Amino acid sequence: MIGSFRKDGNTSRIADLIKEQIVSSAHKEKITVDIEKIQLGHTDIRICRGCRICFDRGEEKCSLKDELLSIRDKMLEADGIIAASPVYVENVSGIMKNWIDRMAFNCHRPAFAGKIAYIFATSGIGSSNNAINAIKTAFSTWGIKVAGENKFRTGELMSYDEMKTRYQKAIRKAAERFLRAIKEDSGKKPSFYSLLVFKIQQSYWQNADKHQDTIDYKYWQENGWLQRSCKYYIPHRASRMKTITARFIGIIIASFII
Ligand SMILES: Cc1cc2nc3c(=O)[nH]c(=O)nc-3n(C[C@H](O)[C@H](O)[C@H](O)COP(=O)(O)O)c2cc1C
Repeated sequence: MIGSFRKDGNTSRIADLIKEQIVSSAHKEKITVDIEKIQLGHTDIRICRGCRICFDRGEEKCSLKDELLSIRDKMLEADGIIAASPVYVENVSGIMKNWIDRMAFNCHRPAFAGKIAYIFATSGIGSSNNAINAIKTAFSTWGIKVAGENKFRTGELMSYDEMKTRYQKAIRKAAERFLRAIKEDSGKKPSFYSLLVFKIQQSYWQNADKHQDTIDYKYWQENGWLQRSCKYYIPHRASRMKTITARFIGIIIASFII
């Protein structure tokens, strides 16, 4: 998922180099990989109208009949997702942010639990922290495990040669980390933040007597996530201590929200 309009820009180039490395590392391990690059700026994903229909009636009912859901379906089929944005004014690009906004129904009905992601940002000379955090927060809330992240200072436009010289090690690490996370199925080891978000939402819906006719409530109920014994969207392998702490803090935060 590339959040730049520049088809041959820095973000796309770094993604190409990571892809090359993934293919080469996978080949050595006799693993076949199939990677599709999606340039969000060149897909038909229209601007979120803020009508809330996706929240209230379901994403299928969105009046914007564009490519959002077919891209979502591809993500659901994939073992892992690499998402990257150029830094625009200290944050993600508008293209990336609009995609995140259009996918916001996943914050209510997280469908990606167990998936792995690697995220990166490219910037001129400035900080990529906000951009990385914006993607990371969205992904963690959708249930995606962010297995790694990186920041590349690439200026206006860096050549492949310079990228290779400057970032060869980081690119190799990114590819290896992504592949390893998939092989180890580390989506089943959720972050503290994901466990926390789960508990806050679980507490909310367990006490949402007045909202039992909403699709969100039904979704949580049908998935079995409202049962007291349920600690996460899927059976997971996070440590007991991490899970207990996240749930404890989640209950406290939820008590202020509910
Ligand atoms: C509208 C705009 C805003 C930008 N804002 C920043 C910024 O705040 N900080 C920074 O370091 N670079 C900034 N840049 C530079 C880009 O982040 C950088 O060149 C990036 O690698 C471009 O990626 P791309 O070629 O994939 O589009 C900006 C570029 C544009 C076009």
